[in-house]
Amino acid sequence: MTTVFLNGAFIPKSEAMISVDDRGFLLGDGLYEVTPFYGGVPFGLDRHLARLARGLEWIRIAYDVESLEAMHRELLTRNGLENAERSMVYMQITRGAAPRTHYFPEGDVTPTIFASAKAWSRPTDEVWNRGFRAITVPDRRWSRVDVKTICLLPNAMAFQAARDVGADDAILVRDGVAIEGAHQNFWGVFGGTAVTHPKTGHILPGITRGVVLEEAHAAGVPVEERPIQVEELIDAEELFFTGTTGEVRPVVEVDGRAVGDGRVGPVTRRLSDLLLARIEATRDAAKAG
Ligand code: PDD
Repeated sequence: MTTVFLNGAFIPKSEAMISVDDRGFLLGDGLYEVTPFYGGVPFGLDRHLARLARGLEWIRIAYDVESLEAMHRELLTRNGLENAERSMVYMQITRGAAPRTHYFPEGDVTPTIFASAKAWSRPTDEVWNRGFRAITVPDRRWSRVDVKTICLLPNAMAFQAARDVGADDAILVRDGVAIEGAHQNFWGVFGGTAVTHPKTGHILPGITRGVVLEEAHAAGVPVEERPIQVEELIDAEELFFTGTTGEVRPVVEVDGRAVGDGRVGPVTRRLSDLLLARIEATRDAAKAG
């Protein structure tokens, strides 16, 4: 039986009900986070909650994220995932249920908090080593995608466009810049330097992206935060995505053209190994402590 968290209670998923007046449902008026757990140990939960708190402040939903760490842990346990190699908690907060208006409801409206947990698995080594295929798609999202809103229609349409042609993901292009994937950050390797878009309103500041940047700096792997022009993709030695559910994910083909020699490159492998080692060290330290 799947247990979900809804507005303070842990309940069977089949009993979870949300009002048809919920502003998340009617207006996409809410935020979400997806936090990974390894062996039942959260990875970067504090950073996910800090990003959420920043977003809540910007969209003016008054909610203290303090209690959410304990909720995440309990939800995992209640779903029997405390020993799962990989699991994740999806959580969303909406402004709550109120008569539909384009302005924010007046008076006190209680935000709706929903969370669910599930196990997931990394692609097999064989699949990962073969690499993934992407296509470029226009970025039709708004100009504050650093705020993790639940309004994911443009992302879903971009991902579907990729699936329609048998590709694995989309690279969103805005004003000639390869910004990020439909649900992952995007990186290129040029002259041995790993390049990713700087933190602006046009990318989601991925927690995985931040950890990979830290690990690269610590290991002496050259990195640069700058926009990648779409014309540069043809000259990239390597391309890859980073994200909670993708970890480091190599891209070996874009728009039907091979990236570099068409194989997963050494910088992608190095950064993937560094991320996995950091995850393992985090899990082991938590288990030991
Ligand atoms: N996606 N960019 C976008 C547009 C994203 O939606 C995500 C996360 C990322 C990577 O962020 P992080 O490293 O913090 O997961 C980048 C989540 C996982 C999702 O929509 O399921």
